[in-house]
Amino acid sequence: MLIDTQVTRKATNCIKWNVRHDLNDDELLPMWIADMDIATAPCIRLALEKALGEKVLGYFEASSAFFKAICDWEEKRHQVSLQAKQILLSPSVTTALSLAIRHLTKPMDKILVFSPFYPPYKTIIEANHRQLVDLPLVIKDGQYTIDFDQLAQFFSDSAMTAMIMCNPHNPGGRVWSADELLKVQQLAAKHHVLIFADEIHNDISYPDLPTSSMLNDQVDHVFQQQTLVFKSATKAFNLAGAKVSFIFVKNEHYREILQNAIEQEQSNEINTLGLVATRAAYEQGLPWLNAVTAYLEDNRDAALDYLGKYLPKIKPMKTESTYLLWLDFCSYHLTDRQLADGLTKKAHLFLNAGSDYGHASEGFMRLNFAVDRKVLSDALRRLSKFDQLYR
Ligand SMILES: Cc1ncc(COP(=O)(O)O)c(C=O)c1O
Repeated sequence: MLIDTQVTRKATNCIKWNVRHDLNDDELLPMWIADMDIATAPCIRLALEKALGEKVLGYFEASSAFFKAICDWEEKRHQVSLQAKQILLSPSVTTALSLAIRHLTKPMDKILVFSPFYPPYKTIIEANHRQLVDLPLVIKDGQYTIDFDQLAQFFSDSAMTAMIMCNPHNPGGRVWSADELLKVQQLAAKHHVLIFADEIHNDISYPDLPTSSMLNDQVDHVFQQQTLVFKSATKAFNLAGAKVSFIFVKNEHYREILQNAIEQEQSNEINTLGLVATRAAYEQGLPWLNAVTAYLEDNRDAALDYLGKYLPKIKPMKTESTYLLWLDFCSYHLTDRQLADGLTKKAHLFLNAGSDYGHASEGFMRLNFAVDRKVLSDALRRLSKFDQLYR
């Protein structure tokens, strides 16, 4: 089989499994932070072995073949036409977002995020002395939707100069439609709000609902000028440790500012092995990604099926992209502490706590299902145990 789900990460000092040590619980099953317990693609590991065969890990430049691999991938998969010069490099998406906030907005500016939001957004906005403004998403028919009237009102505040748009959405797994994205871009352009589109998850797309990039060639030139895309190969290809990410910047003025900032911070040299891994992923990794996505889709469906049949008090949001399942535990009427303690200490299952994703998410938990099917079954049994104790 092309994909290998039989990985043992316990002794690898990875953050996901270290939680067992931190909480002193060898029975704990970690199903939280967003990387996969699935071996990285063989073509990537081979490329890394070949690079190590060169015996020297010296200074290394991103080659024209590296940029071509990104451009070809984006064009074929997302209909995003890019030139190499429109791609800036950074060690990670959060580092790049932080850089953009620092250099494209001013201190005390307001930056909008939809909640629930990926927790580091709050850190990077506030640590850079900007104000986070949180617009809660609205649940309709079991999925998150955007309140466009509220969005227009929030954007009309002249202190609001940027937004981070998580596309597709983490933690809800929502694939925003091209229409929804366009409406956001129209409103943002009208009110001169910059869009920082975090598209790190957009390569994981299930066949029934492809993701749309905010820089898709169909998008009006004016809106493309107001949109910067932040992404990497790391989520789809399980390379979080590779530490290579990109910013796609079509607007020459913003690009120049960011290029100068990168120079100023001397962050223009990127991890050698990360460059090798990223290029291999985009040049050769598609068959592996297709196989992984099919596996993840089956896992998602198995989890939804089990929850629907046996645990109706836990209400999942149907993940349309990503390998993250957003679970609503509100019908147990527990405090966040009771919920986290119940899952961690009684069911020995470690999930991400919803309260980290903004106030509106108390009573929610996020489960990462990028694991072997047997491990997922074990996690679901642990949820049943929790249900028996608290129902
Ligand atoms: C939406 C989103 N953005 C950014 C990141 C982090 O990316 P990086 O490790 O490149 O900072 C994650 C990681 O889970 C994520 O889910």
